[in-house]
Amino acid sequence: MAVLEIARLGNPILRKVAEPVDLTALAQKDGELQRLIDDMIETMRHENGAGIAAPQVSRSLQIVVFECEGNERYPDRPDIPLTVLVNPVITRYSGETVMGWEGCLSLVDLRGLVPRSQSIRLEAYDRWGQRIEMEADDFRAVVIQHETDHLLGKVFLDRMTDMTQLAYQKEFETYWLQSDSVEV
Ligand code: NI
Repeated sequence: MAVLEIARLGNPILRKVAEPVDLTALAQKDGELQRLIDDMIETMRHENGAGIAAPQVSRSLQIVVFECEGNERYPDRPDIPLTVLVNPVITRYSGETVMGWEGCLSLVDLRGLVPRSQSIRLEAYDRWGQRIEMEADDFRAVVIQHETDHLLGKVFLDRMTDMTQLAYQKEFETYWLQSDSVEV
């Protein structure tokens, strides 16, 4: 496994719609896609991120991984077990939205307050090509919406509705962390 370089905002790959993954190639146990998934997991853990999408490691493919267990950056958030989603499609968004502070490994030091659907329904494949249907709410729904946005060429800035709620990490901690919004 290897820690991969993170593409940062300004890199055009973050703004491309990612390509669907070929499920036959995915199923090859020692295949290149399995190595990519392992490297994405290692990179996410190395960077203390809650999730990462393939375009963030400069691969324009519809793969996301996420995990939040004992994460130092998100000590108050509920645990999310390691999950790999291939070709994910959100099929239902709740009308109810929640506001939460988000950060992104590709946006390094920025934090922004982002509205997201409180719950979602999702169809995808796991890393071996098995079909998955799932529902998610609250923190996990927010993480999935953030990561699947990367596959559409979107970053959290695009989803913000009030750009006065954008801050650098240090100023976020000084001026905003006391607010009762959740941090993602
Ligand atoms: Ni991100």
